[in-house]
Amino acid sequence: MQKITIKKIIKKKNKLPIVCLTAYTKNIAKIADKYCDIILVGDSLGMVLYGMKTTRNVKINTMILHAKAVKESTKKSLVVFDMPYKTYTNKHAAYKNAKRIIRLTKCDAVKLEGGEKVAKIISYLVNKKIPVMGHIGLLPQSSANFKLRGKNIAQKKKIFKDAIAISNAGAFAIVIECVVESLARQITKCVSVPTIGIGASKYCDGQILVIDDMLGLSDFSLKFVKKYSNLRKIIDRSIKNYAKDVKARRFPSTKNVHK
Ligand code: KIV
Repeated sequence: MQKITIKKIIKKKNKLPIVCLTAYTKNIAKIADKYCDIILVGDSLGMVLYGMKTTRNVKINTMILHAKAVKESTKKSLVVFDMPYKTYTNKHAAYKNAKRIIRLTKCDAVKLEGGEKVAKIISYLVNKKIPVMGHIGLLPQSSANFKLRGKNIAQKKKIFKDAIAISNAGAFAIVIECVVESLARQITKCVSVPTIGIGASKYCDGQILVIDDMLGLSDFSLKFVKKYSNLRKIIDRSIKNYAKDVKARRFPSTKNVHK
């Protein structure tokens, strides 16, 4: 199995769609690694695994624990560490944190949310040999709501400028979250690095989804998510049957007992 490099990801632009998913744990990472180009240890884990209301309370050390598990369970995919809120407020803090993250987790790159505002930080990290994935459009760490972006001209212009700024700063790929199709298409055409869409249409160079959403484990539905499984139902049925078996003393059976 050949390791996917940043060079290979960039080469895929305009040629082959880039497959990305989030993963936070060993078992999921092992499976995702077989099929994905990029695995993102997203700070969405705060909401997905820990029931937080926003990603703003996610701590760097929590992310490090999950990222270590994911990276150690991954042979092929590029593993990207999502830098939590307030860990890249200036270029020096960003570098100090990113260096520690890479040293402790061995992740291949970090991701930062923001456009023009973080371009200088991205450029600083890239110059210090830390590969950076950008993230524009809806920015969960700083947004007041999770509504579609790019619906009016002003928003479109701003997000487009963000894309150009972080592409020029040296980001090797750009996540575009929850924007109108026409804008994602225009950005993808104009930047030289791959765009990775989440709720941003088929015109992006790749796609990413939050793993629990696409597996049908989350307790909500989003328009841009296709559910490839209904794990909620499957797990519900399994636990219900386990409870029934325990109550009826059918579990453990002779097969499950050490004699
Ligand atoms: O944290 C995350 O999972 C993300 C994806 C939604 C791209 O940033």
